[in-house]
Amino acid sequence: MCGIVGYIGNKKAQEILISGLKNLEYRGYDSSGLALFAENKIEIIKSVGKIDNLEQELEKHDVSGYKIGIAHTRWATHGEANVKNAHPHQVGNITLVHNGIIENADILKEQLIHEGIKFKSETDTEIIAVLLNKYLEKNFIKTINKVMEILKGSFALGIIVKNDNDKLYVVKKDSPLVIGLGNKENFFASDLTAINNYTEKFIFLDENEIAEITQNTVTVYKNMNIIDKHIDTIYIEQENKGKCGYPHYMLKEINEQPKMLEITLAKYLENINTLPNLSKYDEIHIVACGSAMYAGMIGKSLFIEKSHIKTIVEVASEYRYQKNFYNNKTLVILISQSGETADTIAALRKAKENKQDTLAIVNVKTSTIAREADCSLFIEAGEEIAVATTKAYTLQVAILALLSLKAASDKGLINDLEKYLKDFKKIPAYLKNVIDKEEQYKKVAKEIYKNNDIFFIGRKIDYSIALEGSLKLKEVSYIHSEAYQAGELKHGTISLIEKNTPVIAIITRSDIFDKTMSNLIETTSRGAKGFIITVESLKQSVDKEICVPDINDFLQPLLVIPVLQLIAYHTARLRKCDIDKPRNLAKSVTVE
Ligand code: F6R
Repeated sequence: MCGIVGYIGNKKAQEILISGLKNLEYRGYDSSGLALFAENKIEIIKSVGKIDNLEQELEKHDVSGYKIGIAHTRWATHGEANVKNAHPHQVGNITLVHNGIIENADILKEQLIHEGIKFKSETDTEIIAVLLNKYLEKNFIKTINKVMEILKGSFALGIIVKNDNDKLYVVKKDSPLVIGLGNKENFFASDLTAINNYTEKFIFLDENEIAEITQNTVTVYKNMNIIDKHIDTIYIEQENKGKCGYPHYMLKEINEQPKMLEITLAKYLENINTLPNLSKYDEIHIVACGSAMYAGMIGKSLFIEKSHIKTIVEVASEYRYQKNFYNNKTLVILISQSGETADTIAALRKAKENKQDTLAIVNVKTSTIAREADCSLFIEAGEEIAVATTKAYTLQVAILALLSLKAASDKGLINDLEKYLKDFKKIPAYLKNVIDKEEQYKKVAKEIYKNNDIFFIGRKIDYSIALEGSLKLKEVSYIHSEAYQAGELKHGTISLIEKNTPVIAIITRSDIFDKTMSNLIETTSRGAKGFIITVESLKQSVDKEICVPDINDFLQPLLVIPVLQLIAYHTARLRKCDIDKPRNLAKSVTVE
């Protein structure tokens, strides 16, 4: 994971680097650091934990004269989160920051130790610095190419070479890297959100490309050859930045969902035929990670039930290594908010190697997945800052619902498309109505926040919703939580039910209402504290019941999701957790 950013120009480098790091903090926040460069002098400042700590550390140094620098925020892979392992790493004339992971680090390190090299850190990154220093020659592009042949794995690098004044070098392999072009200044970063306050002109490096960046020039190389690169002009709306009065980004983003849903759906509802026709496929593979995969589970239920298309969902980290059976009517759908999740990218590439049609559902339009998939459908979630996804997940579910509706209509399985589309137009208002009942969900949070274990149960599509509810709760509140198919609990897990263990049943469908209720009662009769989340038409008027409005089957999950998000949020708040940046996590998982 990790995020890197660099600057060369006339401004105070440390200010641009710190602001860039703050926008990259979603990629990890175990430690951070920067290196400032001027006429052969390099100053390195590092700190453990969030960027605020680095900022405080910087106040102890007079660094206002530096106009060139590189910086890093870390999600630890090799070596614990301490100052020694924080980037930048310096070896001889090389100082660098790295996003990615070196897979042959162990072998290389052993060889280098054998040659007498003494390592200062436990990181894989220091190996890159050692190698670049070892093979350093006047033509540094040649040096980089040589070292790239030795390294296995993924690496986006920002490099300062002592004696090579007024220059930065960057390298990209399997980790994103974008260069920002300014007026007498240039930038680089893992993601354009780190630098889009300063420029709208960007060059996205492709695989195995290297760039030499000065204040006035950017020269891109592939191997030893200079290549022409397209300059993208991308304007990103700056309004709506910050928490806008909310105590946390997670709460702000939950509340943004109706608006983002309206914007996203309007784009596709204007002419539903702009959506791909999936009826020509006889099998769909949905591949994603985490919440995006759980959105895919809801999509699977809808594709099977409503569009009659055989669908499988697979975690990307498994899909990329398993045997997959394709035919010429298989579509592979990749779902990713960031579009940079390493395993999802690998799954996409695998599908393409196997000549399968690929469709991506992505938020970040400039991301690797968006650029590499055959077709991309964008959700208009805007920037999602909270590590736990909320609005992007909801919009992924909405697009899948729309795709499934369109496929069902294209196959002649439904004939009242217009009626369904009307419901899609109503959904943002419904969602707002559900979110506005926040006080009810706070009450649930109050009842569960002291527990150590919580179970969510559901059947069919409700089970898919339960999976996301459980993930959201555990990642932000640190309460152990599991989601189970309601009928499966008694095959072992029910032994974990103790007095007052919360069990939250999600029941949105009448055909399985009684069955799931019976499963909930099996737990409450063993002491569990049972909660029901259901729809108005199935209301039981009992204690610990939350009802959401009824809407058609395609859309019903969308009305339960914010209830679960808000229960998770308020539970985490009562437990005083770091809601927007839960421990051990990063927003964008760019390593395997
Ligand atoms: C959980 C969460 C993660 C992501 C997963 C995939 O709240 O945010 O589970 O859904 O890491 O990330 P993307 O969608 O960027 O591929």
